[in-house]
Amino acid sequence: MIRVLVAFASERGGTAEIAEWVGAALRDSGVTADVRPAGEVESLDGYDAVVVGGALYVGRWHREARRFVRHHADGLAHRPVWLFSSGPLDRSAQERAIDPVPGVAKLARRVHARGHATFGGRLAPDARGFMAAKVARTASGDFRDRDRVGAWAAGIARDLRSVTV
Ligand SMILES: Cc1cc2nc3c(=O)[nH]c(=O)nc-3n(C[C@H](O)[C@H](O)[C@H](O)COP(=O)(O)O)c2cc1C
Repeated sequence: MIRVLVAFASERGGTAEIAEWVGAALRDSGVTADVRPAGEVESLDGYDAVVVGGALYVGRWHREARRFVRHHADGLAHRPVWLFSSGPLDRSAQERAIDPVPGVAKLARRVHARGHATFGGRLAPDARGFMAAKVARTASGDFRDRDRVGAWAAGIARDLRSVTV
């Protein structure tokens, strides 16, 4: 049985839920998946592949996602890896493929990631925090698309099966 770690970094829960959707879709495709906060993962032992997801804040991946990739860079470079970002508070991520932000693109190259996807984000209209409240005044809502997330994860399961047979 192929075992995949889905590690996520989320500030307000939206990316955490996307990671759960990735995990559920992998399991539906016959792959074992553990979904865990990136900051709590100590070792990649026992995992055949890794998916890392982070929320985007001010043009950067969530700090915990960056730390995770740097800390586990050697282990990741020896496993199939996929990355995702969650951010845009509009329909753009549903309408077209959005490239990773430069910092994520650099990390993707470092671990030879097989793919990256940008998914829409979520921000509550009453989000707490000075910056978040300011952003929420002009852009709030839930722009995550579970079907798109599930299709992306099903593609990962397909790739993994073709790598391991
Ligand atoms: C202060 C702030 C800055 C943000 N900056 C970006 C950004 O640079 N790019 C982007 O695509 N989304 C940005 N977003 C949207 C978030 O990425 C989105 O709300 C995401 O779903 C948050 O994930 P989380 O709930 O897991 O923390 C920003 C949101 C806030 C509140």
